[in-house]
Amino acid sequence: MAVKWSILLLATFLVAQAYSAPEINLNQLLAEEALKYPEALEEPDVDYQERTAVGSGPEEVIINQLLAEEALKYPEALEEPDVVEPMSRAGACTIGTNNGDLAANQPVLLEAGKTTFVLPDTSGIINVANGKTIDMYCTGAFASPLSGKKISAKCDGGDVFEANGHKLSIKNIVCTGPVAHTTRKTSKSCYGGATVLEIGLSLEVGFITTIEVCHDLSKQVTYYSHYGLSPANVAFEKSVSRPTFITGGYYDGEDVNKLYTQVSQMETIAKILGPGSSKYFDLNKNVYLARGHLAAKADFIYAAEQLATFYFINAAPQWQTFNAGNWERVEDGVKKFAASRNANFDIYTGTWGVSTLANDSGVQKALYLKINSAGQGLIPVPKLYYRVVIDKASKLGIVLIGVNNIHATLDEIKKDYIICTDVSSKVNWISWDKTNIQKGYSYACEVNEFAKKIGQLPSLSVSGLLY
Ligand SMILES: *[C@@H]1O[C@H](CO)[C@@H](O)[C@H](O)[C@H]1NC(C)=O
Repeated sequence: MAVKWSILLLATFLVAQAYSAPEINLNQLLAEEALKYPEALEEPDVDYQERTAVGSGPEEVIINQLLAEEALKYPEALEEPDVVEPMSRAGACTIGTNNGDLAANQPVLLEAGKTTFVLPDTSGIINVANGKTIDMYCTGAFASPLSGKKISAKCDGGDVFEANGHKLSIKNIVCTGPVAHTTRKTSKSCYGGATVLEIGLSLEVGFITTIEVCHDLSKQVTYYSHYGLSPANVAFEKSVSRPTFITGGYYDGEDVNKLYTQVSQMETIAKILGPGSSKYFDLNKNVYLARGHLAAKADFIYAAEQLATFYFINAAPQWQTFNAGNWERVEDGVKKFAASRNANFDIYTGTWGVSTLANDSGVQKALYLKINSAGQGLIPVPKLYYRVVIDKASKLGIVLIGVNNIHATLDEIKKDYIICTDVSSKVNWISWDKTNIQKGYSYACEVNEFAKKIGQLPSLSVSGLLY
């Protein structure tokens, strides 16, 4: 009996070890990150959706549909091969976004001969037919036994790909370091003399833009981040650690991370409003201004794209209870809507206006994270966050809007923050607490009415309401 019990205990222990090992690594990594960037963890702009499991139900139907469509496209993948190679399973290949196939130093996966990402299905599985190739890129170099910046990897069955004479599991096709991201200034201008900046990956095949940003370099404000969402986005990689935000060389050498710290933001707001402004902050209740992502980390499938969202030009000061409240619900709802509708969306996530609060004499004053030597406010605290969603196929659209002033009264919100006809009663795919001011009072409008009102979007052709 005793022997049996000890074997059982040992087995239980080993199973527990196997399950807890990745968590230990994650915790170690998080601890290391914390040491490197204490200020980044001080103010989490929490992506709660990363902890939310992808729902089942309608999405499963889509997965089956997609698999059936794939099968039609690649009949050879389903047929039994005549000769089975000893080293391969001679079937299709799969790569999972959340099953350990993709290492931290994973290469970028592009369709053969193209500049588009290889997309998983909504359950996170990339299917590659036997004998088909995908292009893989590193920004540094492939790790041994491979080398160079690009390989053409041919599916050999299961998780095995053949490249440059090597047959390797996808887990072992890695770069010597994480894929680097960068930004570049274009010659295009956007709203009010602002500049179109591109965030992306500089690969041997060319620059792959992941986010297009409309940013005013002198006012240090971003009007919007423009990018796409596909049904595949619900299958985004969930284990990518959050890095610190970086300026990417914009903001005239300003230490923007410091301006966002709780200590600095409270000092700056006190200069604008007076010492009584401390009543607008309650750090224990997440009442402070966070680094609010425009294009969210979880709006992108792959690690390299997710890490490329951490530029200040893709962020704005956002009350944290709103960031982790209704705005998180909007981000999550839109992504799941793309999957359940099997739709490809064009997204503009932006900011509008400058939020105000009463100063110590009761006068409403505009809020910024920096007042320069000329007395000009920079890095404004926006009045509104908005997300324009346009279905590329149907040209139907909607804009989801959240009020970035958790201290405003309902009367002030109705007067200064609701700028178009509210159609949010038609939206049943966002589980938000719409009228909760602390979580960010939220509503929705027709794109054309909203665009005309704010005047800062490029011309969009939207033919009706998406809901
Ligand atoms: C509040 O703003 C008004 C208008 O700018 C100004 O006259 C007043 O001195 C300010 N009060 C404080 C306490 O700064």
